Amino acid sequence: MSSKYLSSRIREIPPSAIRKFFDLASTMQDVISLSIGEPDFTTPEPVLQAGIRSLQSGQTHYTSNAGKLELREALAEYLFRLYHIQYDPNREIMFTIGASEGLHLAASVLLNPGDEMIVSTPCFVSYQGIIRMAGGVPVEVACRKEDQFDLDPQAIADAITPRTKAILINFPCNPTGAVASRETLLEISRLADAHDLIVISDEIYDRLVYGVEHVCFPALPGMQQRTILLGGFSKDYAMTGWRIGYVAAAPELLQAMLRMHQYIIMCISTTAQDAALEALKTGESFVQEMCQDYDRRRKMIVSGLNQIGLPTVEPLGAFYAFPDITSTGLDSAAFAERLLKEEKVAVVPGSAFGKGGEGFVRCCYATAYDKIEEALERIDRFISKI
Ligand SMILES: Cc1ncc(COP(=O)(O)O)c(C=O)c1O
Repeated sequence: MSSKYLSSRIREIPPSAIRKFFDLASTMQDVISLSIGEPDFTTPEPVLQAGIRSLQSGQTHYTSNAGKLELREALAEYLFRLYHIQYDPNREIMFTIGASEGLHLAASVLLNPGDEMIVSTPCFVSYQGIIRMAGGVPVEVACRKEDQFDLDPQAIADAITPRTKAILINFPCNPTGAVASRETLLEISRLADAHDLIVISDEIYDRLVYGVEHVCFPALPGMQQRTILLGGFSKDYAMTGWRIGYVAAAPELLQAMLRMHQYIIMCISTTAQDAALEALKTGESFVQEMCQDYDRRRKMIVSGLNQIGLPTVEPLGAFYAFPDITSTGLDSAAFAERLLKEEKVAVVPGSAFGKGGEGFVRCCYATAYDKIEEALERIDRFISKI
C-alpha cells in the first residue's frame, strides 16, 4: 500500500534510531545488552501480588479518567513527603500510560503549529518526535561533557525566541545520567519566569540518585504554576511493562491534558493502578535496595570504562553511563555497530539522543553485575583491535 495515504506529520517523523540496535541484537546469540533502558529487576513481590489480587477480586472495570482517587491521594502524599510540594488530588494529578503518554499530552496541549519547545539534549529518543507530532518545533540545546552534562542556562537563554512556548528538561537524565544542580535549575526557573514559559520536567528517574539530592523542579520558588511534572513507576519501581506514569500540574494545564486523555485513553489499566498504589504504600525499601544495587554496578562500569580509555563522566542518577568514544576515531553509530558485530555487546550510539550525543555511546548498567564485567572485557578487546 502506498504511503500517500499518510499525513505529512507522520511522514516527517523518522523511526526511533534506537530500535535498529534492539532489532539487530535480538537476532544474535550470546549478546550482552547494555542497550535497553529498563531495570533488570522484576517488579517487587508485594506490588505483583497487589496486581494479582486486584484482578482476582474483580477489579476489571474502568476507573475515573484521572485514575482512582485513592491513588491520586496517595501520590499527592508521596510528592509532599519527598519534595514538600502540595498537589490537589482532585484537580492537579492524573495517571497516564507511562510518562510517555504524559509527554505526548503535555506537548499536545501546549503547542500550536510552529511553536517552539526547547529541549535539553542529549535526551530521551522520543522527545523530538513527540514535539513534532504535536505540530511544534524542537529546538535542541546541548548539555556538555565539560559541565558534567548539566544544563547551560546561557545556551537556553540564547535559544529563546518569540515562538518559544516551553522548555523540556529531564533530570536525572537519560542518556547521560546527569543530575542538574539546584543552582542551574534556579537559573532556568528565572528564565521561565522572565519569558513566561512552561517547563515540562520529566523526572521519571527521580528516586535513582547516588549521593546527591534530586531537585524536584516544581518545588522551586514560583515554579509549581508553570511546571508540568512527569513521573512514573517504570524505572523507580521496575514496572516498565505495567505502563503507568503520572502528571502533576496546575489545574488549567492538568484539566486540558485530562480532556485529551479522556478521548484517547479513557483511563489507564485498573490493575496497574492497584499495583502502583501498593508501590507507593510499601515500595520504599525496594526502591532503596534497587538503588543500592545500581550504585554498585554504576561504580564498576564507570571505573571500568575509564580504565579501558573511554573517559566517562560520573553519572549521578538514572542507570546509564555515557562514555566518550572519540579517541577510537569511530563515530557513535559505527562504534555501536562494530561492537555489536565483533564482540556482541549492544550499546546505543549517542547520535540517537540528539545534539551533543555524537562522540558518545549509552551503556545501561541495569544489567547483572557479571554481565557488565564480561561486557567491559569485550569492549576492552574491541578497542585494542581498532
Ligand atoms: C527520560 C524518559 N522519559 C520517559 C520515559 C518513558 O517512560 P514510561 O515507561 O513511563 O513511559 C523513558 C523511558 O526510557 C525515559 O528514559
